[in-house]
Amino acid sequence: MNMKPVRLDDVAQLINDAKHLVALTGAGISKESNVPTFRGPDGLWRNYDVTKLATPQAFAENPSLVWEWYSWRQDLISKCKPNPAHLTLAKWEQDGLLKSIITQNVDGLHRIAGSKRVFEIHGNIWITKCTDCGFKTELSEPATHIPICPDCNGLMRPDVVWFGESLDILTMRYVEDELTTTDVMLVIGTSAVVQPAASFPLIAKDYGATVIEVNIEPTPITQILDYHILGKAGEVLPTLDTFIDHQDPD
Ligand code: OAD
Repeated sequence: MNMKPVRLDDVAQLINDAKHLVALTGAGISKESNVPTFRGPDGLWRNYDVTKLATPQAFAENPSLVWEWYSWRQDLISKCKPNPAHLTLAKWEQDGLLKSIITQNVDGLHRIAGSKRVFEIHGNIWITKCTDCGFKTELSEPATHIPICPDCNGLMRPDVVWFGESLDILTMRYVEDELTTTDVMLVIGTSAVVQPAASFPLIAKDYGATVIEVNIEPTPITQILDYHILGKAGEVLPTLDTFIDHQDPD
């Protein structure tokens, strides 16, 4: 693959000058926090069968098995902390540089890092939703049994998007606004193979944005994007930050 060499100070300048900087993140940004990714050598989908764990049919057939898996993931995530990549994005938002994060991650680490405008398009592993009445509640610790709806006694499920399900319409409206407004987009730690998120960088590009990918390897969209920074998000983002012109508050 033929890739243009990238100067980090040039990319930092683009970030610095952006009017509407948006970040799209995937499992790779949380890898250095020890949250497993889905694909790749240790990826979850290599060791677990998605059809038995992350589809509405799987939940209908065996809710206990599905909850066992989510409870295991909740336990794992509860021991993880945001890494320098999450923290740099949160800092950039506080400084007014970054307008929003669109994330495919359900781990909630962006919010824990301090980011406020976060669109969790695949949901959040700590929120549960009643399969009968839709009532939602937040868990403060990993589920130890199948949660039951306090309102109607229905079975609660994790409020995450499973294969074959649509994304939340309201969230998608906000995301569309971001994609058509952004002038510089960072695409961090996603394999860019799951739709619709895989198309977001291309939509942003069609609307005129400069798109910068940060990943430890090329992805199917690398060639189409403007810049590819090869490296770990937790190292690349803090390095970019050293070139950013942070204004002192008045
Ligand atoms: P994947 O597991 O498919 O891809 C992770 C990406 O992160 C890969 O491209 C890696 O090369 C990259 N990566 C790994 N470590 C990195 C690091 N330290 N720094 C930068 N990049 C790194 O994860 P996603 O693309 O997020 O959906 O997966 C998309 C969706 O597929 C998930 O949200 C999930 C899954 O099935 C649902 O569950 C609905």
